[in-house]
Amino acid sequence: MAKELVDPSDDIRAYGADYVHFCMRLRKLTGIDLSSYKSRQMHRRLQNYRNRHGYPDFYTFSVAVQKDEQKLKALLDFITINVSEFFRNPEQWKILRESILPPIVAYRNGQPVRIWSAGSSAGQEAYSLAISVLEAGGLPKVLGTDIDEASIEKARAGVYSSEEVKGLSTFHLSRYFKPHPEGYRVREILRRAVSFERGNLLTDEYPRDLDLAVCRNVLIYFTDQGKQRVLRGLAASLRRGGILFTGATEPVFNPASYGLNQIHPFFYQRS
Ligand SMILES: C[S@@+](CC[C@H](N)C(=O)[O-])C[C@H]1O[C@@H](n2cnc3c(N)ncnc32)[C@H](O)[C@@H]1O
Repeated sequence: MAKELVDPSDDIRAYGADYVHFCMRLRKLTGIDLSSYKSRQMHRRLQNYRNRHGYPDFYTFSVAVQKDEQKLKALLDFITINVSEFFRNPEQWKILRESILPPIVAYRNGQPVRIWSAGSSAGQEAYSLAISVLEAGGLPKVLGTDIDEASIEKARAGVYSSEEVKGLSTFHLSRYFKPHPEGYRVREILRRAVSFERGNLLTDEYPRDLDLAVCRNVLIYFTDQGKQRVLRGLAASLRRGGILFTGATEPVFNPASYGLNQIHPFFYQRS
């Protein structure tokens, strides 16, 4: 069997014994395994964060987060980089709306369209998917999963500030959201269509028989090995003919090796 090439800069041991200790401690405390994330980038970010908070090395930093739940939570928020938007990269959503969803809705023929937003952050992507299916005349059943508990809580609440709803048209805003003291809240029609669960893409089981798996702006943080593992899982989560939708900077190289066939930029069909 061909040996998988591993980038040496992805080996956490390249960054010192204190960093290895920190990664092991974090895995024990949270289940997040930093050795599957791009190490150079992650180490640089964490080192800046650690310096800003005044810890001289990763040993003392580990002790501090282990002792203080608030510090651990703040660190997790920082690690998981949960920036998101409604209809992020609109040109991709246009392809989804015009070319991808109509045949899926026809295939389901009145039955729920099964969609997974993998790495759903605070829910903007999952709700955008539900809106898109409703407008294509289908019945959405969207599951959003994310490793970050705080993001899942926010997604379930479905409350967004005026700044956060910027990507929505006034039509979408008035039809699918209602005013709320903090901005806007998703209406019942979306709430019924979308659910959220905590899940780690690198360790947990994946859903099955999906029409559409959406994994955007998540794979970029993983090592090549981590990425391959997740792509294999995403492909297997689709029914035959199901579609994988990736981020605007995340083409799948060699889709055939996952049993996928590219049908539009960033859209791949299970063959
Ligand atoms: C930049 S956001 C992308 C959100 C959304 N998909 C989008 O494109 O707007 C990346 C998300 O991936 C989540 N994430 C990172 N590692 C993960 C893992 N191992 N399993 C599940 N989610 C993960 C983060 O918590 C974060 O919410």
